Amino acid sequence: MLNALRSKAMCLESQLPGIPLLIFLAAVYSLLRILKLYFPPPGNYPKRIPQLRGFSIINAVSFLNKRYSFLQLNQEMIGQDLYMFKAFQQKAVVLSGEQGRRAFFGEKGLHFELGQQSQNGPVPGGDVIRKLDEMDIQLVSIMNKQLLKIFHKDRLANAIPILVHNINRHMEAWGTAGKMDPFKDIYSIVVQMAICLSTCEELASNLRTVQHLGNLYLQQVTSITPMTLLFPWFPCSAKKQKERSAKGLYNILSHYVDLRREAKTPNLNPFDVLIADSDTNTAIVRFALFVMIVGVFNTTMISCWALIYLGGNNEWRNKVVAEVQNLIATYSNASRSKPIYQCFSTILLSAWEENMPIADVVIRETICLIKNGPALRYNLADNFQIGGNMIDKDTFVLYRREDVHLNVMCYSDPLTFDLSQFCAPREEDKQGNLLFLGWGASHHICTGTKTAKLKIKMLLALMLSSYEYQLVDGSSKPLKEPPQPNRDDTYESRRICEPCFFQYRNV
Ligand code: HEM
Repeated sequence: MLNALRSKAMCLESQLPGIPLLIFLAAVYSLLRILKLYFPPPGNYPKRIPQLRGFSIINAVSFLNKRYSFLQLNQEMIGQDLYMFKAFQQKAVVLSGEQGRRAFFGEKGLHFELGQQSQNGPVPGGDVIRKLDEMDIQLVSIMNKQLLKIFHKDRLANAIPILVHNINRHMEAWGTAGKMDPFKDIYSIVVQMAICLSTCEELASNLRTVQHLGNLYLQQVTSITPMTLLFPWFPCSAKKQKERSAKGLYNILSHYVDLRREAKTPNLNPFDVLIADSDTNTAIVRFALFVMIVGVFNTTMISCWALIYLGGNNEWRNKVVAEVQNLIATYSNASRSKPIYQCFSTILLSAWEENMPIADVVIRETICLIKNGPALRYNLADNFQIGGNMIDKDTFVLYRREDVHLNVMCYSDPLTFDLSQFCAPREEDKQGNLLFLGWGASHHICTGTKTAKLKIKMLLALMLSSYEYQLVDGSSKPLKEPPQPNRDDTYESRRICEPCFFQYRNV
């Protein structure tokens, strides 16, 4: 057998004089890979874009009410990598598959901020897009500049002791044992961390006001309903709640900006930095609110679900605990007789970032399981084509993240919390193009990735080294089944089907 192969190889070599067989095969292989990369196989694209039937108002309400299920059901029914639906007068195109993914994330004419309007403001539904002012249209690019300054690496490094101290203050209030609702208690910590990184010390250290802000923000988000989105002029109670909470948020934040304006000695807190840049109160409050909008729910959701998944998986929980112990042993210079939070305070940013590989994978897998639903854009390109189909200008374009994260073609067991899929030798997230979209891709990558990861790792580290916990139901009985995420819950940080609590006690 071997001899036969050898003589075949020699025969081929003799047909390619001067080119060693292996180099030739490697070159062919590389060429094929490059061709595959630049000319992916054609997707499952129809000649004409299929359109979902039914009343456009029903589509709009279904999309807003149960976005995940609505898109999944249609995808199964239509079975193509491209289809469109109408919601009121607005057209929306839904893309799937590798070609769709590459087009969605690669096309510069797809506008990010206008796409987000279907999330919080006017949805596919009329001419509201034209009412947006320049500030709204440029919001993310303006905020990105401020975020890069305020969330700069050096500032983040300096904030570590205060962030750890804040988490510890909350944990002290939990006591040595008890039962807690992670989505409520961890939400409070995350709100405080966001306030701490985006406002001023006077506000961040005032726990009652921070809690009040957290409640107002929750009211603001829960007042976004299909009703308020579709009929923004209708004076329903949700609309009133939205206006009241927006006013409350503005007044509190603006009051603290005034306090800092009147302060005799300026400091390096975010409000002071923005005041020094001659920003108005409105602009400074907008920045603080933007940080809450983009960061708080995402960070709460991923922290809570990471703890829930680890709570049901002893093997990986023990690995994270060992990693945290090693972090303290190797990178903290506080005396071991000090309380544990003081040990964490002295760990440098680089150690948090580079020496917690297992926590990194926990975050990645949790995002894959939880952060799904459509990424949204608005097409401003004159000539955006996909699979031979022209996508009209002024159309919403959607890409369902679950098309990769929860797809058996990309991950072998996508619905199971399975960290080994990201580790060698499997590394399934590296076996194709754009297989992990958890922090965005190409033109729109999350500006808060480093900050969010640091906060989540701190929460995991303090929680897992301070407490043992068990997942229980409302009557404190151990959960029979692992909790399931509610993927249709777009507006709250919970995204959980059945209530789940942590029964905890100090270790
Ligand atoms: C676990 C927490 C977080 C997750 C999972 C997350 C995820 C994402 C994703 C997937 C995108 C891209 C959206 C798209 O393509 O449509 C994004 C964009 C963005 N995120 Fe995050 N994010 C998190 C926390 C934060 C935080 C804490 C901040 C800042 C305080 C932040 C700021 C932003 C900004 C400004 C963008 C828009 C970037 C651009 O388009 O240039 N995020 N994030």
